[in-house]
Amino acid sequence: MPEIKVEGLSHVYSPGTPFEKVAIDGIDLETEHGELVGIIGHTGSGKSTFIQHLNALLQPSSGRILYNGEDINATKASRRNIKYKIGLVFQYPEYQLFEETVFADIAFGPKNMKLGEEEIRERVYEAASFVGIDRDYFDKSPLELSGGQKRRVAIAGVIAMRPDVLVLDEPTAGLDPEGCRQILSNICEYRKETGSTVFLVSHSMDTVAEIAERIIVFNNGNISFNAKPEEVFAHAKELEDMGLSVPAPTLIAESLKAKGLPIDGPVYTHEKLLNEILKAKGANKDA
Ligand SMILES: Nc1ncnc2c1ncn2[C@@H]1O[C@H](COP(=O)(O)OP(=O)(O)O)[C@@H](O)[C@H]1O
Ligand SMILES: [Mg+2]
Repeated sequence: MPEIKVEGLSHVYSPGTPFEKVAIDGIDLETEHGELVGIIGHTGSGKSTFIQHLNALLQPSSGRILYNGEDINATKASRRNIKYKIGLVFQYPEYQLFEETVFADIAFGPKNMKLGEEEIRERVYEAASFVGIDRDYFDKSPLELSGGQKRRVAIAGVIAMRPDVLVLDEPTAGLDPEGCRQILSNICEYRKETGSTVFLVSHSMDTVAEIAERIIVFNNGNISFNAKPEEVFAHAKELEDMGLSVPAPTLIAESLKAKGLPIDGPVYTHEKLLNEILKAKGANKDA
């Protein structure tokens, strides 16, 4: 059984008004537990609308979402419980830090789950360590932190609920390259250690290419591709028509190949590109 099954999901904002907008239109999707799924698409393609359905924050206009075979919107209780099972980190989540201390902010979710104090403390420590927030920060106000640190505290607040599925909407938006790299490695590490499913929304092909095992491409409220990275990046022309590009390492590998360098197989991460270049260099030396 798929962990998440989306059937004919559509969402219409402000129906029956002059502002009516079909944001997603008949989406079907199945994912398995433990997958790392990258979601990309141009601005306005429906990514955020879609993922807000995954934890019942938005209600479908039609269609449904099954989590382990059960409709997440079946009852009020199932809608409430899904929020702890499928944790959603909004875009710019740092704007939602509002407690007096970092500790209290991370503890907010577990507190709502009515866990005991000891259990809450344990989860806060665990979540903070996943995102690299030191205990020295626990008593500080979130307002004293840097942008990247605030973002990590906000992510810890969701991780502290120990969700089975972690959904992040553009978690690296607005961060400098080092901040981006840290957050992505935190997410990969978290997923490796907990075995959780991760949905990562991004408008950057390069970001998604670095870590996703499966890529879902949104275009005008529909899914255009849902496949392994190399399959998706083989459609450079279609991606370009959607205002997306293939990852930079793929473009570089292609121009090196055109210049006669022996580049092997699909290249879409920096690591693979580097390996291929080193291999080609070695071959050159032997010649
Ligand atoms: N609260 C809202 N009210 C009305 N229209 C919205 C709202 N949120 C998003 N939209 C519209 O729905 C479409 C999809 O938006 P969104 O899901 O935010 O896309 P993405 O996250 O891919 O940028 C866009 O046309 C957007 O303008
Ligand atoms: Mg969005």
